Amino acid sequence: KATTRIALIGFGTVGSSVAKLLAELKLPGLELTHIFNRDVARKRALPTAKFVPKSVVWTDDVNVLLASDADVIVELVGGLTPAESWIKKALAAGKSVVTANKQLIAYRGPGLMKLAAANGVYLLHGAAVAGGVPVIPGILQGLGGDQVTRLSGIVNGTCNYILSRMETGADYLTVLADAQQLGYAEADPSADVDGYDARAKLCILARIAMHAELNPDDVPTQSISVIDAVDFAYAKELNCTIRQISSAQADGTTVHARVAPMLVPLSSPIAWSHGTQNMVVSSGRFGGDVVFSGHGAGGEPTAVAVVSDLLAVSQKCATVQLPIRKRTVTGDFLAPHYLR
Ligand code: HSE
Repeated sequence: KATTRIALIGFGTVGSSVAKLLAELKLPGLELTHIFNRDVARKRALPTAKFVPKSVVWTDDVNVLLASDADVIVELVGGLTPAESWIKKALAAGKSVVTANKQLIAYRGPGLMKLAAANGVYLLHGAAVAGGVPVIPGILQGLGGDQVTRLSGIVNGTCNYILSRMETGADYLTVLADAQQLGYAEADPSADVDGYDARAKLCILARIAMHAELNPDDVPTQSISVIDAVDFAYAKELNCTIRQISSAQADGTTVHARVAPMLVPLSSPIAWSHGTQNMVVSSGRFGGDVVFSGHGAGGEPTAVAVVSDLLAVSQKCATVQLPIRKRTVTGDFLAPHYLR
């Protein structure tokens, strides 16, 4: 059929930006039809609701969406519960799902993908890693023909925003509060600063790039909250700065993986990333290094990924999938991989 009917679960920073992009871009074949939110009255009164067409059905009952005639459910509430059960119901009802939910895809991605395939629908998650930077479609569509041996870089915009401002003298708690206010941080910002957001993203990238299934809980993860002004002073003496780096390296049936604040030489483009910039360097056996870079957090960049996935669903041209294998993770010392 000509029109793809879209139902949003969640109308926060990303959900309202999806509504805005759909209204502004007027892409043929995409129609927003339903919005679920726990507090409909408050959300409808927000300035961001002005982009929502009058015809849209607002509801605080998710079952209204799941039983509706929407073709695609966009899940933007995050977390495993209740998002997982809602997505399963949607897929079982023959609806495609587009999600930005990193934790859910990292922990439960393969099972949900199988369910989607069994029901002949799509489950796309381009917004789950690096917001507006097309790392996931880029790897799936563009690097399936290589053997990716290493992934490294910055996949959390909040940590990058915090560390790049601390580098110029700002105080940790002040910049963390700013990141929350600007809509970069997760609902619980410890997911950002303690590295859990980045390790979920690293596991998703390892799955699609290295076909390796990692348990996020096995990835050694260090918080950036231990970093202080004095660390930047020492880093500077070494011609370095500090960034939260996520790395994974394939080594036979093992993957060496880690998320931690690390010294980065000032000569590396990774050190030049400021604000919400994410940067992923992928190294291929045949194609060499490929760099993905851009805004990794924030409503509108993340909404770009969601809307791009919606177009892929509506045009039935979603990305290639390759078989994945379980891999053991070790946190052995892993030299960061910088572009020099
Ligand atoms: N809190 C996340 C970040 C949002 O700062 O990168 C995008 O996933």
